[in-house]
Amino acid sequence: MKIGVLNGPNLNLLGKREPEHYGGQTLAEIEALLEERARADGSELVFFQSNDEGDLVDWVQQEADRVDGWIVNAAALTHTSVALRDALAGSGRPFVEVHLSNVYAREPFRHTSLLADRALGVIAGFRASSYVFGLEALTAHLRAREAG
Ligand code: DQA
Repeated sequence: MKIGVLNGPNLNLLGKREPEHYGGQTLAEIEALLEERARADGSELVFFQSNDEGDLVDWVQQEADRVDGWIVNAAALTHTSVALRDALAGSGRPFVEVHLSNVYAREPFRHTSLLADRALGVIAGFRASSYVFGLEALTAHLRAREAG
């Protein structure tokens, strides 16, 4: 089972960016944590981060036939990007939307997601663990589907 892990704008700055919202772990540390979990579970991960909406859309298009599903933290693009929504929906692969912070306890503009209604589910507020929970939820879903 192969999962694409997509991270949007400014998440390259994790570790030093607003730790009160996003915790102290860098993106590389979060990816290493996910790698460890995936290895133990026998699944494979591919990672991509970009600050550019077009690059994220291109990556989804490029990887769609190679992955079984996605973990998506689209960061600010969650709240604005029809293009990323369409790319993920068009990939035909299920995805879990994750956020480090509890977006529903923050500014009102963060309460809207253009991805959520196309997602398998949304996990927000558990810092780096949001990704781990997202991975567990997605792999459980894919396995259940495989088992028929
Ligand atoms: C975020 C929440 C977004 O509102 C914000 O723009 C981010 C990170 C999160 O992980 O909590 O960049 O997606």
